[in-house]
Amino acid sequence: MSQVSFDDPSRTFLLTTPASSYALRVGADDSPRHVHWGAPLALGQAAALPTHDGVTSSFASTGGEELAVEGGARFGVPSLLVRYADGTRGVEWAYEGHAINGGRLDVKLRDRHYPLGCTLHYAVHEDSDVIERSLTLRHLGTTEEGDAPIGILRCDAAGWSVPAASGIRLSHTVGEWSGETQLRRIEAPYAETVFTSRRGVSGHHANPWLMVDAGDADEDHGEVWSMALAWSGSWRITAQRDHAGGPFTVTGGAGHDGLTWRLQPGESHETPVFAGQFSRGGFGATSRGWHRYVAAHVLPLPDEVRPVIYNSWEATGWDVTLEGQSALAARAADLGVELFVVDDGWFGRRVSDRAGLGDWQPNPERFPCGLGPLADEVRRHGMRFGLWVEPEMTNPDSDLYREHPDWVLHMPHRRRTELRHQLVLNFARTDVTEWAFTWLDRLVATYDIDYLKWDMNRALTEAGWPGHPDAERLWTDHTRGVYAVIDRLRRTHPGLRIEGCAGGGGRADLGMLARTDQIWISDNTDANDRIAIQYGYSQIYPARTMSAWITDSPNPHTRRRTPLRYRFHVAMAGALGIGGDLSRWTEPELAQARELVSLYKEIRPVVQFGEQFRLKDAVQYRTGDRVVVIAWGQDRALCLAGLSPTEVYVDDDTGAEHHAATLLAHGLPLRLPAQEPTSTVVRLTRR
Ligand code: DGJ
Repeated sequence: MSQVSFDDPSRTFLLTTPASSYALRVGADDSPRHVHWGAPLALGQAAALPTHDGVTSSFASTGGEELAVEGGARFGVPSLLVRYADGTRGVEWAYEGHAINGGRLDVKLRDRHYPLGCTLHYAVHEDSDVIERSLTLRHLGTTEEGDAPIGILRCDAAGWSVPAASGIRLSHTVGEWSGETQLRRIEAPYAETVFTSRRGVSGHHANPWLMVDAGDADEDHGEVWSMALAWSGSWRITAQRDHAGGPFTVTGGAGHDGLTWRLQPGESHETPVFAGQFSRGGFGATSRGWHRYVAAHVLPLPDEVRPVIYNSWEATGWDVTLEGQSALAARAADLGVELFVVDDGWFGRRVSDRAGLGDWQPNPERFPCGLGPLADEVRRHGMRFGLWVEPEMTNPDSDLYREHPDWVLHMPHRRRTELRHQLVLNFARTDVTEWAFTWLDRLVATYDIDYLKWDMNRALTEAGWPGHPDAERLWTDHTRGVYAVIDRLRRTHPGLRIEGCAGGGGRADLGMLARTDQIWISDNTDANDRIAIQYGYSQIYPARTMSAWITDSPNPHTRRRTPLRYRFHVAMAGALGIGGDLSRWTEPELAQARELVSLYKEIRPVVQFGEQFRLKDAVQYRTGDRVVVIAWGQDRALCLAGLSPTEVYVDDDTGAEHHAATLLAHGLPLRLPAQEPTSTVVRLTRR
């Protein structure tokens, strides 16, 4: 079946994914109208559907457009807002044709009078129900002909429409530093509900995705429409529930409210992708659909096993020395760690958070011979070597800032707000990104670095660019600059792996995942708190991308005491790391840790590459013949998911046999150790 088809008489396009259909139509006024997003339809059935007509009266419902604009009797949330040089606002579309190429559809539009062109892009894949949408804006004029720039007041990537009766409940995550990705489900008000980040990163307080359902979906059942934005800077997603019966709409894209810039004659602007997925299998199937999509179409190296990492941050902070790190490396290697990452504190005069960012040479007092001896030591233990960097930042107390005070975001007559004693380098400037690439390239080449943790510890403020004629572009171009440096680094050093981080999970999104291997999702390493953070992260992002360390007890952030085994089990739900101060671990603790690292390596293929099922106080992974369950809480019978009832499973540890039918209906009997909080890992293999 073709993935994209077209019915000429009705001007209807049909996108077909394995389990859903999406239809749009070029309306009588040439504007692209939404027709259907949901259960599979044939082209003839889609062509026969009526067009939602919300633009004929002052009192009509809103919504129903593929890309809502300003102009005519439209009163919903515009996805595209433009102003021409003569003061005219809005768009009147003329349809210019389309192109279909495999799973891709481009619908070409232009304004009936002004030199504004717009191509709506759609892409579907044979292995996914996720539909990728974005658009390209084009200024069709030329400076020679005297055409003026066009003011862009808002340019979303796509507008999605959900049937009115289903747009009742919203799922999203909220959070804060050390408490990211807390799942919330709220009834959608009859209003415009805005989810946004004005911080220049996707944010701790919100994450750029949304799920919509009729209020009746659960983990295993129900129709869910979901959308996720592949963007790591400021963003805005606006949902609108309409009382007059119009579709529930969700429009989203890069940038927050109030930012404006000008599209120059001849210039094109590409938005990031705002992808959407319809699922009939509840929130669990929705998440698994996103996980599969991220693996197949987003991650650079989805099939590569994520190593067991040691990271020095919680153990040594800024107190980084050759001796201290070497001692940690020896202990980490003994536990089975595969990659040793020196976090902050190795460079410049970085002995606290007050100085040194921007001066990316090894601290000469701590590392008089450079990092070579430490890298050699780490490799001698059989581990790979990684380093923390924060390329977008500088401390005012740094040689870089003294030399280039104009490289930071700033505005005339305004304070340069310092957060964590640091300022943001303007990555929209090509001299700044060239500088960043040059030192990163040299660093990676000099020490043959295997892994960089790319951090970003503050939001953008006073985001100005004095002297630039269109400075608000930097909100987009800073993020593009970050992407460009990372992409170039990866191209130049194909063996390099990168972990995304922004003061914990402040920049966890599909844009970052397209160029990183894993994400540090929170600075909170308390296993109890982590369960909720990991639960929220798993709604869209797969386990193999989720860096999860076990650290010390009591936890340095929360002071909570938890058993080593429990800390390990919770961290085993993702890409395992160790971040504790190993110099203080006792011999029995080290011995237990060695066993648990080895257990993780044994279950790792299932956790990292399996399908994930969120169960009550447990998470289950399945790939091929193998099932792994990580459970915490009480002794109980835990009903498993995703098995076929005729299968029989054998417990790898006890040899006990379980019929899948009973595992599904009556549950797996869990006997948890008496310690509090308590946890277990069960491994089952299909007979
Ligand atoms: C914030 C990160 O989230 C931490 O893991 C650590 O890398 C610190 N920054 C270092 O300053």
